[in-house]
Amino acid sequence: MSFRCQVCGYRSPKWLGRCPQCGEYGTFEEEREAPSQVPPELSREEPPKPLPEVPAPPPERLSTGMPEVDRVLGGLVPGAVVLFGGEPGIGKSTLLLQLAANIADQYGKVLYVSGEEAPSQVKLRAQRLGRESPNLYLLSTQDLLSILNAMARVAPVALVVDSLQTVLANPEGGEVGSLAQVRESAAQLSRVAKTAGIVTFLVSHITKEGGFAGPKTVEHLVDVAVYLEGIREGDLRILRCVKNRYGSTAEVAVLEMTGKGLVEVPNPSLFFVSKEALPRPGTAIVPVLEGTRTLLVEVQALVTPAGGYGPPQRRMAGLDLNRTLVLLAVIEKHLGIHTRALDVYLAVAGGLEVTEPAADLGVCAAILSSLRDRPIPMDTVVLGEVGLAGDLRPVRKGPERLQEVAKLGFRRAIVPHQPLLKKPELEVVRAKTLREGMEALELL
Ligand code: TYD
Ligand code: MG
Repeated sequence: MSFRCQVCGYRSPKWLGRCPQCGEYGTFEEEREAPSQVPPELSREEPPKPLPEVPAPPPERLSTGMPEVDRVLGGLVPGAVVLFGGEPGIGKSTLLLQLAANIADQYGKVLYVSGEEAPSQVKLRAQRLGRESPNLYLLSTQDLLSILNAMARVAPVALVVDSLQTVLANPEGGEVGSLAQVRESAAQLSRVAKTAGIVTFLVSHITKEGGFAGPKTVEHLVDVAVYLEGIREGDLRILRCVKNRYGSTAEVAVLEMTGKGLVEVPNPSLFFVSKEALPRPGTAIVPVLEGTRTLLVEVQALVTPAGGYGPPQRRMAGLDLNRTLVLLAVIEKHLGIHTRALDVYLAVAGGLEVTEPAADLGVCAAILSSLRDRPIPMDTVVLGEVGLAGDLRPVRKGPERLQEVAKLGFRRAIVPHQPLLKKPELEVVRAKTLREGMEALELL
């Protein structure tokens, strides 16, 4: 017999009033072994085989019909279990219905199980998306046994469970959505997915309150875990991989929510730079890396004389406050600019988070451009990590970034001293220090 904390999953051989891991009170519940509910058709026992007799996995990987999504998932092998996490309303059901319809059109039957919506609601969404695939089978249930029975009856190539938190695995094992239920459902569904070779997508809501078990609690049970994230208020979504047994986790896809569902943004590089061509003081364009993708982002600064009383303002959106405070100290020390007399507001346009030190020089350039009221030419990008000694350090994948920058029609790049094997088709100014960089931009 064992007990498990329903909040964080900590297991203990005896009941505890307070969880030693997460500190919550009264969260321990007895854990009973759920009886196996796998229908006999799916639970055929296979004897162990000598390695040469083990059939090779099919070389072909299934495509979701969306190349950008495939790149993030790393291709789907039969039996793969993919967790789709994301906040409510972000577009998980929409995206999975699209992927399900694509797979149904290409490979055969797909079973879409919704524990939240009636089949007619799902149908309505499919109509709106213009994707009424005859191979798409809908089922509305919260009962794991019904899902397993439906899998045996339909024998689909792929299964979508929307969402994991609505599946009841064991009627005696606690509330629907509780950690025990979510874990047990995920474990049983992946077991069947593996035996029957069904690609399985498990949707999981992230909730702030932690009232029920979120995607983190089952990440270890799945092969691939991806998260659909929104960028502030807008229609852009980023699909980000955090775990992948079949490929890299560095890939991200940029998608856009439209009236016809989510569509891929195939060349997102320029998506985060404002369309107007006017150069404005306080704006610097920086090529940042998201996974293996180069995205051009606009760092915006507003620098004004400080009010006089109290500490000066330091407000950031999309940038790290501590990193920026260091940069202000470096500007003060090595460029001789009295930053304590200045209020500094910084933002990354488009709502991206930029955490790379490679954006340092761009942040400094935006600050000085606003301070001097002198724009940086729109055909120029700024790249480099700034050291405490006012030196400029090389960045990861510099050549790849500049290649993309050149492709997008920029003419000039201010960069640190670092090897560039293939010369990109643009004027490259190499600066050794922050001062040299700012001089090249005529900001001193
Ligand atoms: P949904 O997929 O239901 O989110 P989740 O499953 O993650 O909770 O998407 C919800 C939002 O998406 C909803 O506000 C409506 C919007 N939407 C569109 O903008 N276009 C569409 O084609 C569809 C189907 C939904
Ligand atoms: Mg949904």
